[in-house]
Amino acid sequence: MKIEVPTIRDLGRVWGMISDRQTLIGPKVVMVDIINQCDLHCVMCFYHSSLLSKRPDYQTWAMGQMSCEQFASLLQDLSQLGTEFVTLCGAGEPFLHPDIKKMFALMAKYRFKSQIISNGIHINRDILDDLIEIRLERLTISLHAADSKTYQIIHPLSEEDAFESLKVNLLYLKQRKAYLKSRYPKLSIINVISSLNCYNLIDMAEFAYSVGAQRIWFKPLSIAEETKEVLSLKEEDIIRIRADLKFLRRKIKLEHNIGEFMDGLTPQLDIQVDKSCRWARNRFCYLPWIRANITTEGEVLSCIYQGRSFLGNIQRQPFSIIWNSKEYREFRKNKRCPEHCLGAAVYPFVNIVGSINRIKNRISVIVPES
Ligand SMILES: C[S@@+](CC[C@H](N)C(=O)[O-])C[C@H]1O[C@@H](n2cnc3c(N)ncnc32)[C@H](O)[C@@H]1O
Ligand code: SF4
Repeated sequence: MKIEVPTIRDLGRVWGMISDRQTLIGPKVVMVDIINQCDLHCVMCFYHSSLLSKRPDYQTWAMGQMSCEQFASLLQDLSQLGTEFVTLCGAGEPFLHPDIKKMFALMAKYRFKSQIISNGIHINRDILDDLIEIRLERLTISLHAADSKTYQIIHPLSEEDAFESLKVNLLYLKQRKAYLKSRYPKLSIINVISSLNCYNLIDMAEFAYSVGAQRIWFKPLSIAEETKEVLSLKEEDIIRIRADLKFLRRKIKLEHNIGEFMDGLTPQLDIQVDKSCRWARNRFCYLPWIRANITTEGEVLSCIYQGRSFLGNIQRQPFSIIWNSKEYREFRKNKRCPEHCLGAAVYPFVNIVGSINRIKNRISVIVPES
């Protein structure tokens, strides 16, 4: 994992963490969901999988989009708060948003380091040229496969040639960047690991390398009751994954999260979507000081694994008011995470902060707080 040099703003955030008081500066990273709609229905998707019994309001919910006006006013607010990174994502596919081009222009206007997380199937050469031109910081493609056959199993509704055309597009990006001598957008590949693709990890890394990715991310599966039977990792899968990742770790030339992913590998039978944070609540978490997530409906969360305990809504109040609110401050003070938090593999350094917290807890046993 690459370690970034802290900025002055980071020191303000660290001060907030240490002093347990109001954070002096806005979140470093904000992830904004802009759309709920998706046409891919990945088999493990916690929103759209056809294995899930859908929420009663699914049809209307799936039409939800963040308006461009709401997005613009959020960006203005974030810019004033000192946010550096903005990620466009969705409970659906961000490239289906009709105003996606305007949104890119806005992110460029405020000079955020911007990322988009996408399934990649709506990307074509024109879009890739645009992303190079606006110097998008990072394009993250959720792939979950290293070959067409596995891709089809994970994405049963995709066209037969979807994997191959994605590969062609990613190779185009690699060639254009080389031709223009540009590093941007840096390419990341995400693979959510389930029983359907867990025997392909080495091929996934080779594929990522071959298309010019700079980072590969293995993401732990959040599992729902209805998807358990098909997707959950068995003991033998975990043994194989550990062996493959141990091998891969020695060879891999890409930025990766193999260590964090391996630390969190447990048989997933007891983990359920929205319930993952209800285990032993004993671990300090630094996320509420440095990042925020905003849903398509404007609800504010500090972590994607936080369930539905929202901290405010940007349709009712500006984000800056919510970020500095009493509720948010209380939340920062009291938030505790499970020992095996799924977020540890997704958000770098949670493990390090967790270790510091364990030491802090031990000291407070020896020297009881008055
Ligand atoms: C909900 S998707 C939205 C963005 C876009 N449609 C995509 O697939 O990248 C956001 C991320 O969640 C991941 N994801 C979906 N279902 C998941 C699950 N059950 N467990 C962990 N991650 C999951 C996707 O792979 C993707 O990387
Ligand atoms: S592409 Fe993304 S939003 Fe769509 S079904 Fe797959 S994981 Fe879910």
